[in-house]
Amino acid sequence: MKRTAIIFSLAAALLLVVVSANQNESRFSIVQPPELAEEIKQLNRLNGKNSDEAVIDFELANFGNIQYGIRTIGLAGVSEPYRACNKSAALQGKQEFSTIPFLLVERGDCAFTDKVYNAQEAGAQIVVIVDNSAHKGKVIMIDNGHGSNVHITSVFITKAYGDIIKKYIEDTKYVQLALQLVQLKLSHSSVDLWLDLSSPYSNKLVHILQPVRQKIAKNDINFHPQFDITKKTSNINIKDTNCITYQTFQYCAPDPDLPQGEGIAQMNNIASGSDVVGEAIRQLCIHNQSEEAWFNYYNEFGTYCYFIPQDYEKCSAIQVKKVSNLDLEQYQKCAKNETQIFIMLDAQDQKNQNFSIFAWPAVTINQMIYRGNLEGDLIGRAICNSLQQIDDACTYLIDPSYVQPNQESSSSLFWTLVLVAIGFTIAFFITAYVFKRIARREVSQDVSQKVNQMVSQYIAFYESRGKNTGDQSDL
Ligand SMILES: *[C@@H]1O[C@H](CO)[C@@H](O)[C@H](O)[C@H]1NC(C)=O
Ligand SMILES: *[C@@H]1O[C@H](CO)[C@@H](O)[C@H](O)[C@H]1NC(C)=O
Ligand SMILES: *[C@@H]1O[C@H](CO)[C@@H](O)[C@H](O)[C@H]1NC(C)=O
Ligand SMILES: *[C@@H]1O[C@H](CO)[C@@H](O)[C@H](O)[C@H]1NC(C)=O
Ligand SMILES: *[C@@H]1O[C@H](CO)[C@@H](O)[C@H](O)[C@H]1NC(C)=O
Repeated sequence: MKRTAIIFSLAAALLLVVVSANQNESRFSIVQPPELAEEIKQLNRLNGKNSDEAVIDFELANFGNIQYGIRTIGLAGVSEPYRACNKSAALQGKQEFSTIPFLLVERGDCAFTDKVYNAQEAGAQIVVIVDNSAHKGKVIMIDNGHGSNVHITSVFITKAYGDIIKKYIEDTKYVQLALQLVQLKLSHSSVDLWLDLSSPYSNKLVHILQPVRQKIAKNDINFHPQFDITKKTSNINIKDTNCITYQTFQYCAPDPDLPQGEGIAQMNNIASGSDVVGEAIRQLCIHNQSEEAWFNYYNEFGTYCYFIPQDYEKCSAIQVKKVSNLDLEQYQKCAKNETQIFIMLDAQDQKNQNFSIFAWPAVTINQMIYRGNLEGDLIGRAICNSLQQIDDACTYLIDPSYVQPNQESSSSLFWTLVLVAIGFTIAFFITAYVFKRIARREVSQDVSQKVNQMVSQYIAFYESRGKNTGDQSDL
């Protein structure tokens, strides 16, 4: 009876794992204890959340290494000090954190990246940043420039969730959480690069993605440049220098060199949004002809033009000539064709309305905003993770311990042949040696047998001759 119960519960547990692994949405949830799960469910009901599960709303950070496709389950601890602004927490907890993957850290006093970095150094695997007051609206933690030091995942949750979880950790010391991050997989991956033309970080992003793109080019992937362009059809002010005006509408972009603006340090406000729209048209025309050509062009633009928005047009005319595999005539036709320009800019405006990108540059992959450090291999991994079918280059990017079967089989074939050849040679010599030995022994046996026979015959002969020489008996 007991055994059936154990088998039954094992089967149930297995089923549970399979069912939950099947879920196609990212989720952060309470595993243990059940009373905490119940309290979280109550909070969700109170907030009108249509879910009967102990799930916690969360926002992934915009830095770190977001491990899509991975499900982490484990104990949670509370950082000491709670805000983790210095490394005293780090130095205390190294041992303990090896078995406690989740660490609760409170928002405040220092940057998110620094908190998460301190927790990472302490050994935490996933940092749960708890808001320090009941703010409305979602908070996305962004990089203050230190994000590239962070290699773990961090999430942001509200104070309401955080307070309940913290209380249970402090009371029971046994709170288990689960974070599962999944990415939508499609047969095709559509990657949008949200670029701020006047930002060096945009140059860097395109620059680091170029080799990654080449590596995984055999997969079904497209890259599109996306600029901060909006279409205005009412309240048109033709004097607005941030817009290019056509018949009854305008395409506008933010001023690239506002004195207090970020990006380039241009104190004299001499450029305007219309320079950006003009450059966007040129780049979209290049891209419309060839994605590869656009990548090459952007690298030239990022080297020579990005810091002089008032001279984008002049600078671009020089750089575009350096781009190989670009049909200049077709490019110039495109840049003058209003029908084509409207199609391209309308699409930019549409996408801009669909997403709220507030940290530029950014990347969206199959309509999902990429979170984590803007590093080539990390973005490449996320792109590969968005595809249903991938080639060896993609598989290797996702799992660097993966050995490409082509290489392995061709090299192992070579070594097999070498081994077989050596084996044959050794076998040949052994056979030859053994054969020689056997042959020699057979010959000598033969000889000695003959000699023995002769001797016995000789003896028999003499015995038969002189019966009196001794007794012979069969008995
Ligand atoms: C995820 O699964 C749910 C039900 O299991 C389904 O309704 C939904 O369409 C799926 N979403 C995607 C993006 O596959
Ligand atoms: C770390 O921070 C805590 C509280 O925030 C403070 O008490 C402690 O002195 C700090 N330690 C160092 C080394 O700065
Ligand atoms: C170029 O633009 C045309 C017209 O807008 C569009 O149909 C075509 O798909 C574009 N080609 C590429 C490669 O973007
Ligand atoms: C302008 O672009 C539209 C849309 O891509 C295209 O159909 C048309 O032929 C182009 N006109 C010229 C003169 O190239
Ligand atoms: C914007 O979103 C709508 C609805 O989600 C979708 O139908 C449309 O294709 C999107 N447009 C672009 C340009 O992404």
